[in-house]
Amino acid sequence: MHTGLEGKHIVITASTNGIGYAAAKMFIEEGAYVVINGRNADILKERCRILEKEYGDGCVLGFCGDAAKESDIAALKKYVNEKFGKIDCLVANAGSGRPIAESRLMITEWEAGFDINLFSTVRLIHEFEDMWNSGKKGNIVLLSSLAACDRIGAPYAYAAAKEGIRVLTKYLSDDYALHGIRVNCVIPGNVLFSGGRWEELMESNKEETERYIQENVPLKRFAEPEEIAAAIIFLASDLASFITGTSLVVDGGQKRGIA
Ligand SMILES: NC(=O)c1ccc[n+]([C@@H]2O[C@H](COP(=O)([O-])OP(=O)(O)OC[C@H]3O[C@@H](n4cnc5c(N)ncnc54)[C@H](OP(=O)(O)O)[C@@H]3O)[C@@H](O)[C@H]2O)c1
Repeated sequence: MHTGLEGKHIVITASTNGIGYAAAKMFIEEGAYVVINGRNADILKERCRILEKEYGDGCVLGFCGDAAKESDIAALKKYVNEKFGKIDCLVANAGSGRPIAESRLMITEWEAGFDINLFSTVRLIHEFEDMWNSGKKGNIVLLSSLAACDRIGAPYAYAAAKEGIRVLTKYLSDDYALHGIRVNCVIPGNVLFSGGRWEELMESNKEETERYIQENVPLKRFAEPEEIAAAIIFLASDLASFITGTSLVVDGGQKRGIA
């Protein structure tokens, strides 16, 4: 199958681990050039070293910065402009479901939740508006969450911000279609990996966490980051050339509603 990703220039935020890192690897395997991002400079450097060792020099660049910070997103754009001069695909992957405040109704919780889960995405897309490879097809993949579809016990602000991502996907896809840019969204279920949120929950309460998965996920297991990354790659590829404005659920069957 021809993904059409060879030689494409891709930017993925929050991609030194988990879903973003798995997606970076898959894009590179398809012959794309990828900028990965994280806040810890040492881990970022190490990830770039591993990827270059496996796939060859020049397949990846690292940008150290906080995807929730306006100034860091502006610096990322400057960096990508210097290195690539244009982009073919943006993956707005930064997000966090970790509770911040004591109460789910505290405004600090909502401000932080919206900042990392929704505003970071809006800023990224806005900042990169003039970077698209003009005259060619481009696309954007956003990351939502099952928390935006069902009441699954996530922080309120996280669920609301991730629903905002789905709304943004639909509205933006209309306007960007005029420029040949597709906009889609992936809705992951529960993804387990070393260093991720679900590993923390497994460590703090293994029995309850495992019971939650057994009782709520028809496939009765966590997702691997690669299983979510595969959906990102598909939506970003030519295989999805007629798909825009879509939210693709990858949750082992957990979403309850039919719509
Ligand atoms: N994991 C799940 O079960 C799950 C479920 C549904 C939706 N999602 C969504 O999927 C996306 C990816 O989640 P994930 O769990 O794979 O990743 P993650 O564990 O939250 O983050 C992956 C890596 O990205 C870096 N990172 C985190 N926040 C960052 C920031 N503000 N700026 C720059 N880099 C940052 C971290 O490295 P540094 O600490 O070095 O920055 C981290 O190691 C998120 O939008 C999340 O909400 C995840």
